[in-house]
Amino acid sequence: MEIKKIVMGSDHAGFGLKQKVKAHLESRGIEVIDVGTDTPESCNYTIYADALCKVIQSGEASLGILVCGTGIGMSMAANKHAGIRAAACENTFSARMTRMHNDANVLCFGERVIGYGLACDMVDLFIDTPFEGGRHQARVDDINALDKR
Ligand code: RB5
Repeated sequence: MEIKKIVMGSDHAGFGLKQKVKAHLESRGIEVIDVGTDTPESCNYTIYADALCKVIQSGEASLGILVCGTGIGMSMAANKHAGIRAAACENTFSARMTRMHNDANVLCFGERVIGYGLACDMVDLFIDTPFEGGRHQARVDDINALDKR
């Protein structure tokens, strides 16, 4: 499935990288729904993780990208939402594998950890790699069943 729309969010620590990755996605012809933050002023990442997850839950976008200082806080907050499988990644292998095996729908990374070039490579792989299904489907179904507990 070709991805035409992506939702993005960040806190202040990920704001600069979010803006740059957003421009990269737009240069690929992908529409970006930006849930904020819109300034480098200090804020809580939970607000933007929540806003992004609501967009995915509504069906308006199928994939999202969250940027904070490390990517960790964003992934923790996002994974509290039903139907969200968020992966904090620091390399291209993980960004690709989390689509293939986990059917991750949110990629998280940290502006204090990785640079712009690596972020764009990770994002491109995340968007362009399909879920493998097969033996991984039952495992993803198990993850989704945890939402109901
Ligand atoms: C903000 O200082 C920082 O804690 C946040 O961006 C993130 O790295 C948390 O996981």
